[in-house]
Amino acid sequence: MPQLLKHYGEGFWASNFHDYRQMHDADHHTIGCTNCHDPQQQMRLTITSVPLDEALKRQGRDWRQASHQEMRSLVCAQCHVEYYFETREHGVAAKPHFPWDKGMNPEDIYQFMADGQPDRDGFAGQFADWIHAVSKSPMLKAQHPEYEMFHDSIHAQAGVSCADCHMPRVRNGPVVITSHHWTSPLRSEQMIQSACLGCHQDQTPAFLRSRVEYHQKRVWRQLNIAQEKSVRAHEAVRLAMEYPGLDKALLAQAREHVRKGQWFWDYVAGPQWHTDRWVTGRHEHRRP
Ligand code: HEC
Ligand code: HEC
Ligand code: HEC
Ligand code: HEC
Repeated sequence: MPQLLKHYGEGFWASNFHDYRQMHDADHHTIGCTNCHDPQQQMRLTITSVPLDEALKRQGRDWRQASHQEMRSLVCAQCHVEYYFETREHGVAAKPHFPWDKGMNPEDIYQFMADGQPDRDGFAGQFADWIHAVSKSPMLKAQHPEYEMFHDSIHAQAGVSCADCHMPRVRNGPVVITSHHWTSPLRSEQMIQSACLGCHQDQTPAFLRSRVEYHQKRVWRQLNIAQEKSVRAHEAVRLAMEYPGLDKALLAQAREHVRKGQWFWDYVAGPQWHTDRWVTGRHEHRRP
């Protein structure tokens, strides 16, 4: 990406990435070591994502000053985040932009998406990913806000990083290395041991697994209730639209509620962690 950006400039973002397949040997150079490591600096952790670099700058942060422990999460925030594409009319066409300027909780992001300033945010006024076919509400689509969801969790506040849980130290023959197999830390008892028990010495793997499952089950149940209500709300607005003397302001207000409700639902539905487990009823991963 940095190379292509240098070569094509801002026009790169709206280009067809399919065209770069051959040049970049997609089987071998998808997510590569240099996404996170600087080979010129003894493989020091680095940030190559332009949208992340810019989002941090707007927050008054600079990853070059970040602690080593912060970097062990920031490298993941290059991809495991929420974003939207700037529009051609008001920004750089198809350039990813992180909606963090008002804060990183879903309420903050919702507010941010309501009031874009053309030059600053790359869109004007209310952002809509699409207009819902049933209720004609302007909708937002959540991507995969893992870093945002994590950032004010009990673990983040305690200074734990993504890598602490997802990249535990593992033995590889005679040496101990940082695991680069990004997957669920609950994959095996051995994984839980290396990923969690360093800090939770007084717990058993079975107990920790049961705590995670307890939370996941409750979230999954709430998610299903919320989505049922969301579907009904779209339908209610559609029915209201058929009423001849309808108050336009009231209808706009109803659509705003539908947009908001679905955003909060989607924010939780987006990350894959619970859906994999509870849709299939098994702990299974899409990739062997
Ligand atoms: C998604 C980001 C990411 C990618 C991609 C990645 N690494 Fe790492 N790597 C890390 C993190 C985080 C650490 C832990 C660094 C630390 O705490 O000092 C690490 C540590 C290392 C270390 C230090 C030794 C160790 O075991 O701790 C080496 C060497 C390394 N990586 C090599 C590689 C190579 C080679 C590739 C490509 C095949 C690669 N990494 C891809 C994030 C990444
Ligand atoms: C360059 C982009 C990129 C970076 C950087 C990155 N990831 Fe990912 N990650 C992905 C993609 C793409 C997937 C695959 C999603 C899929 O297949 O559905 C993924 C999948 C995962 C999964 C799920 C794997 C499974 O078993 O299904 C975990 C866990 C994960 N990443 C953790 C991390 C952590 C921790 C870091 C930082 C150390 C990180 N990722 C950095 C892009 C990235
Ligand atoms: C305290 C430990 C912990 C920390 C810190 C943590 N995670 Fe996770 N992560 C988990 C657990 C536990 C799961 C659920 C795994 C499961 O259900 O099997 C998970 C699930 C995931 C998944 C989905 C994996 C899958 O198999 O579907 C992704 C992606 C992910 N985490 C990324 C991240 C990123 C990015 C960060 C940092 C911003 C992070 N995690 C921080 C423990 C952690
Ligand atoms: C680097 C240290 C560290 C690692 C690694 C870690 N935790 Fe934690 N965890 C903490 C701290 C600190 C707390 C805050 C409560 C406390 O002090 O016990 C906590 C709290 C928890 C809680 C209670 C959450 C709540 O809402 O009350 C659970 C459950 C938990 N961790 C599970 C895990 C699991 C599962 C893993 C491995 C995937 C893990 N932790 C890895 C440090 C860690």
